[in-house]
Amino acid sequence: MHVPKAELHLHIEGTLEPDLAFALAARNGVELPYADTEELRRAYLFEDLQSFLDLYYGLMAVLHTEADFEELADAYLARAAQQGVRHAEIFFDPQAHTARGVGIGTVIEGLGRALDRSVERHGVSTRLIMCFLRDESAESALATLDAAKPYLHRITGIGLDSAEVGHPPVKFREVYEAAAALGLRRVAHAGEEGPPEYITEALDVLGVERIDHGLRCVEDPVLVERLVRDRVPLTLCPLSNVRLRAVDVLESHPLPAMLSAGLMCTVNSDDPAYFGGYVGDTFHAVHEALGLGPEQLRELARNSFLASFLEDDEGLRERYLAEVAAYEFD
Ligand code: ADE
Ligand code: ZN
Repeated sequence: MHVPKAELHLHIEGTLEPDLAFALAARNGVELPYADTEELRRAYLFEDLQSFLDLYYGLMAVLHTEADFEELADAYLARAAQQGVRHAEIFFDPQAHTARGVGIGTVIEGLGRALDRSVERHGVSTRLIMCFLRDESAESALATLDAAKPYLHRITGIGLDSAEVGHPPVKFREVYEAAAALGLRRVAHAGEEGPPEYITEALDVLGVERIDHGLRCVEDPVLVERLVRDRVPLTLCPLSNVRLRAVDVLESHPLPAMLSAGLMCTVNSDDPAYFGGYVGDTFHAVHEALGLGPEQLRELARNSFLASFLEDDEGLRERYLAEVAAYEFD
């Protein structure tokens, strides 16, 4: 679905398509534990978040050089443009690469090369959000922030991802305070598999401006009231929720009820190479499975630009919002 939209919840490593993974494996002399792309695709049957993460981190072994990261990001931006994405705020997981001996500068400069040409090549404006792995230590997150200091001109904000349960937001208080002092914007995954309390804690302790996922807020009416009142954006990822079994089937996703409750919802693709669709496909899927009509789809698109970190270019945000308002659904 081509309505103009911003993508706010997208892990660049989650856009690694099987074809590119095998091409990079050949180029870098990496042996993959799958015979071919078909066998790899057959492994994409996940039980939960952890079973996905195991495969996701494993496949990153093919990413080595700046050129690899540039190619990964450029391929995503080309696909995103075809799906109506006009602006993308892209997550990356530096610790998943530095742990394998790939320098943080290689990752950021490689991604940055693709992002620098994105407007001209694909018509997609971009921002970069550096995520910390919450199942690693707080010290490791602080060291990662420190290592990123030479590249802060490329980074708009920080996020928190990976295995959620057992790793509450409060563990990362210090690194979020340090990032805020550096002028970085703050988001965090919360309420994907973890309880609603993690959403509250991400807001109160980490000072986040958006909640990534936030799905489990629906279990706590007081929290929903707060999120509605404060217009806290939620970057929902319905196809991811189905594949990682947070919901049984797309038809039972609470998105329509969340919109009706007045929550500021956006829809996003999370890890599109693994979860069966990019964000235009996701809009189409929620239209088909949940019966969302033009006005709700327009609201989702509008919310995506309102929730994006475009404070440094309000003119661009206004142009995007005007495009959403003028879009004709067929
Ligand atoms: N890293 C990549 N995708 C993720 C997700 N859905 N939740 C947590 N961490 C992730
Ligand atoms: Zn995510």
